[in-house]
Amino acid sequence: MKGVILAGGSGTRLHPMTRITNKHLLPVYDKPMIYYPIETLVLAGIQEIMVVTGGNHAGEFLRLLGDGGEFGLKQLSYSYQERPGGIAEALRLAENFVDGDRFAVMLGDNLLEETIAPYVENFERQERGARLLLKEMDDPAHLTHLGVPIMDNGRIRFIREKPSAPPSPYAVIGVYMYDAGVFDIVRSLQPSARGELEITDVNNAYIDRGAMEFDVISGFWGDAGESIDVYYQVIDFVRAHGVNKAPALAGR
Ligand code: TTP
Repeated sequence: MKGVILAGGSGTRLHPMTRITNKHLLPVYDKPMIYYPIETLVLAGIQEIMVVTGGNHAGEFLRLLGDGGEFGLKQLSYSYQERPGGIAEALRLAENFVDGDRFAVMLGDNLLEETIAPYVENFERQERGARLLLKEMDDPAHLTHLGVPIMDNGRIRFIREKPSAPPSPYAVIGVYMYDAGVFDIVRSLQPSARGELEITDVNNAYIDRGAMEFDVISGFWGDAGESIDVYYQVIDFVRAHGVNKAPALAGR
């Protein structure tokens, strides 16, 4: 299984810091943000990763990460997104790298307390299709900024983006697992009202085909790019508890 980390985008919610650097190069406690998703994928047994980046600071990723040897990677590849045209558009740049394999995608600003290894194993056992990770949220107001699934009989029926009335207590977090069929789906997408190719449209296409499975994660999940306050909450969590831990070590 391969891994793709999306580290482009504009990072406007962390302006003005992201006017002078790429969001994923900002520090999170004692390391640049991009280290954490790489470690998440490596600890799930993934040895070949592509980082998709964009904007003015792409060269810094090479200086920082090199050939990925520091992480024990067999291969670290890079791609460049010309303009921030959406998560699904960034994904398209990984098609040749993925080369017909299955793969896990992670948004470069997401951090998880627990390893995703068990969920990647579930996907390896899955015959076809895609797999999402969900996190049950305590605060319904938070869900109004996120992708929220409509659940029915233990299946996801549809994902609603930024719902004013959340249809379930779950957030779709930034870890997605796909078979190579995802690239045909991306090619069939139309840009949304904000001019982007939306990952939620990709996921709803899998749901339509009855080919979407999911796991509900336990432990902390944070999107460090959500706001400056969440960025600091994530840093505080990492400093106090650490991330990417085996579930048995994660209890707090
Ligand atoms: P977002 O946080 O939704 O978008 P953004 O990074 O542009 O930030 P903002 O909304 O504050 O302007 O993106 C989630 C992740 O996906 C982030 O880690 C960067 C990545 N991404 C890309 O790689 N390419 C893209 O075109 C977009 C929109 C995001």
